[in-house]
Amino acid sequence: MNAKPITAAITAVGGYVPDYVLTNFELEKMVDTNDEWIRTRTGISERRILKGEGLASSDLGTEAVKEILRKKGLDPLEIECIICATVTPDMVFPATANIIADKVGATNAWGFDMEAACSGFLFALSTAAMFIESGRYKKVLVVGAEKMSAIMDYTDRNTCVLFGDGAGAVLVEPNHEGLGMIDSIMKSDGAGRHYLHMKAGGSLKPASVETVLAREHFAYQEGQSVFKFAVRGMADVSAELLEKHGLTGNDIDWLVPHQANLRIIDATANRMGIGKEKVMINIEKYGNTTAATIPLCLWDWEQRLKKGDNLILAAFGGGFTWGATWLKWAY
Ligand code: UT7
Repeated sequence: MNAKPITAAITAVGGYVPDYVLTNFELEKMVDTNDEWIRTRTGISERRILKGEGLASSDLGTEAVKEILRKKGLDPLEIECIICATVTPDMVFPATANIIADKVGATNAWGFDMEAACSGFLFALSTAAMFIESGRYKKVLVVGAEKMSAIMDYTDRNTCVLFGDGAGAVLVEPNHEGLGMIDSIMKSDGAGRHYLHMKAGGSLKPASVETVLAREHFAYQEGQSVFKFAVRGMADVSAELLEKHGLTGNDIDWLVPHQANLRIIDATANRMGIGKEKVMINIEKYGNTTAATIPLCLWDWEQRLKKGDNLILAAFGGGFTWGATWLKWAY
């Protein structure tokens, strides 16, 4: 018998961003905005866009997963389950997770999509952790994949400057050294749905000529309202997780926040007493990639992480959904 119970640890990270760089300066030519406004209000300088016919979120996720398979020398047939967090699935159904499984050759895996907007990756990771902790699963992939450009209205300066395309993925495996996911606090409140959503295309308002003409198949956000909830939600839940375990900012090696706005990230770090040098920030180059922001941070920082490092992953997004996870890095 193992001395410690099974914990669920991230054992590999993969990522992918498309080549095309959409800069603030190019956006200046598309809508009434400017580089200075975007940088000072959001922290974003550029974002990546997936161009080309026939390419979708699954193609981004597939590249991220392939990197993991390569790095670990893993046979895709060993993958047991794929959970894909996305608000930009290839199609309303079937699940993008199934399409990724097909594209990488993970034909023994079952899978499903997790729809929790910007908190999707955290919710999916927490779900995967429970599969591993139960002892029934040994290899689960969690993917955050978004082609946000597919639901951006490039005539609406309120939203189109914020989002970008990209994907990140992690492999989750059992650990017997007490490393990996220690605890999570996850929350949602459907009353927040009015502030951030897509108006049409669901069963409430199916696609019609009218919905297309009214530009209702794009992401809609009341930025200022979401901002207030996001600052409070992400900071509160992160502080709650620290307090629950008697931790302070000094105990934390890295804060891995959802990348929606640099000001929200700063507020969360301040509230937790975590210095900026310990906060993963890459919003300037990718913008908000929704479910992909957190794994893309892990991907960018992977080489700097050390076994045993304490990480807090924190997110806030549409729904509203929000949460924080404490994990000990396992490699
Ligand atoms: O990831 C999911 C969760 N989402 C979030 O966490 C996003 C939360 N919200 C935000 O990050 C911010 O609210 C935004 C970045 C979206 C907007 O920043 P803000 O400081 O809240 O600006 P605002 O919406 O209050 O707008 C201030 C001004 C307005 O002009 P007036 O009314 O003061 O004349 C806007 O029309 O800025 C104007 N504005 C712009 N100006 C130049 C809005 N968008 C732009 C733009 N370029 N792109």
